[in-house]
Amino acid sequence: MGIRILTAPEIEAMRRVGALAAELLCHVGDQLRPGLTTQDIDDIVVAFTEARGARSGPLNYRGFPRSVCTSVNEVVCHGIPGPRVLQDGDILNVDVTPVLPAKHGWHGDTSATFYIGEPSPQAIHLVETCRRSLEIGLEVVRPGARVGDIGAAISRFARAQRCSVVRAFAGHGVNRVFHDEPTVPHYGFPGTGPRLKRGMAFTIEPMLNLGGPEVSVLSDGWTAVTRDASLSAQFEHTVLVTRRGCEVLTARPRLLVNSEDRPYARLWPMSCYSAA
Ligand code: MF3
Ligand code: CO
Ligand code: CO
Repeated sequence: MGIRILTAPEIEAMRRVGALAAELLCHVGDQLRPGLTTQDIDDIVVAFTEARGARSGPLNYRGFPRSVCTSVNEVVCHGIPGPRVLQDGDILNVDVTPVLPAKHGWHGDTSATFYIGEPSPQAIHLVETCRRSLEIGLEVVRPGARVGDIGAAISRFARAQRCSVVRAFAGHGVNRVFHDEPTVPHYGFPGTGPRLKRGMAFTIEPMLNLGGPEVSVLSDGWTAVTRDASLSAQFEHTVLVTRRGCEVLTARPRLLVNSEDRPYARLWPMSCYSAA
């Protein structure tokens, strides 16, 4: 088996669904506000995805009951949309994965953490550290680098900022298969793991906590929470390894409302994305 290398037409298909995933995340961000329920977000995702002739990867994936993951505050990932009402001061990760074409199609997997109303200084620190940690991971990606280089760079930065890195979940190869090889941990050692090659597609999706890194999964079988109930944030992109670096397949056409557009966003300015 090994790690799949995409052909030119397959890359085109991944570009199309990646762009759709990015648009969907922007569309959700526009509508977030206190008083909305996480089920309302599911409704928004279903309507947009249907209108574009795509399918939602999460729906019925290993029994997941909704079309998007919505993870509030202490929820690390895989939060199930439902009656929970978003409150002023909450942080919310929305993780979307449209599939195009709807049958046997390609996955575009991306997420961001949003601010609902006015966040605490600690929430800003966590979310902005997490946002930057993903960018730091992206900057490592190029042919010849190792998978372990990515997690090493992310965890080094996160720990220096006094945030812990969740170890129970990782990035993953993504194509027609939602979760494929390689596994991309957000911690580890440089020079370890598989070597990256041009044409590989995978996600980087660091989850950072203000407290300890340990997680528990609730009795619904999905919702992962921090064991110490501390806040958790996550950002995710789907990337393609290119000749010189990486192409962010889920790069957004504009700033995310309620996240990237806030005046306190980007405590750390971007250095640069590697050129495609
Ligand atoms: N989108 C998640 C990821 O980044 C996976 C969600 S699986 C689901 O890998 F079943 F919870 F939707
Ligand atoms: Co993913
Ligand atoms: Co995802």
